[in-house]
Amino acid sequence: MPITTCIFDAYGTLFDVTAAARQAAAEPGQEALRDHWPRLAADWRAKQLQYTWLRAITGDHCDFWQVTQEGLDWAMEASGLSDPALRERLLALYWELAAFPEVPETLAALKQRGLATAILSNGSPDMLKGAVDSANLGELLDDTLSVQSVGVFKPHARVYDLVAERFGCAKSEVLFVSSNGWDACSAAQYGFTTAWVNRAGDPVDRLPGRPQHILTDLSEIPDLI
Ligand code: LAC
Repeated sequence: MPITTCIFDAYGTLFDVTAAARQAAAEPGQEALRDHWPRLAADWRAKQLQYTWLRAITGDHCDFWQVTQEGLDWAMEASGLSDPALRERLLALYWELAAFPEVPETLAALKQRGLATAILSNGSPDMLKGAVDSANLGELLDDTLSVQSVGVFKPHARVYDLVAERFGCAKSEVLFVSSNGWDACSAAQYGFTTAWVNRAGDPVDRLPGRPQHILTDLSEIPDLI
C-alpha cells in the first residue's frame, strides 16, 4: 500500500531536546553550566525517558511535564547544580525548543505531495502546542496526537493505535519517523513503515522490530515516498 500518512515523533525528531541546556549555558551568569551542559542535557533526556518506560510498566502514568521536571532534577543533582533560577530557566526553554533546520522544508514537501502529517508524542498537549507554535509548524501539520488521551507512554501499542483512530488509515499506509531508536523499532514491530533518524550515528537497538529506513536527518523523507 502506498504511504498516505507521515507521523513524526516530537522530541529529538522535530525538536532539538539539547537546545534548552545549550541555550541556557550561553546566557550571562551561567558560567557553571558552560562545561556541564552536554552531560546535563544527556542525563536529563535519559532520565526523562527512563521514567516514562518505568511508569508505563508499573501503571503509574503521569503528565510528560512531570517526568520532564523529575528528569531535570536528577540531572542537575548529578552535575552538582542546585540553582532554582537555572532550573526554572531550563524548564521555560523546554516549551520553546528549536526545531531542527530541515523540519519546515520537509513538512512542506510532504504537504505538497498531499500526505497527511502529524505528531505522535509522549508530550502533553500544552507542551506540544508550545513547541509547535514557537517553531511555527502549525500550518504544516494536520494534527498533534498526545499519549495523554490513552494514559500510557510509548512504546505501548495503545499509543500507536491513535494514528489509525485519527486518520482511518491502515498501518501499512503510515510512515512513522523517529530519532529515538527504541521508538522506531517498536513502531516497526507494531506494523508501521518506519524511518529511524539516526542523528547521533548510534547502533541499531536490539529490539523485536527493525526500522525499514535509517536516515541521518529528515530531509531524505520526501524521497522515500
Ligand atoms: C516523544 C519522545 C519520545 O516525543 O521523544 O514522544
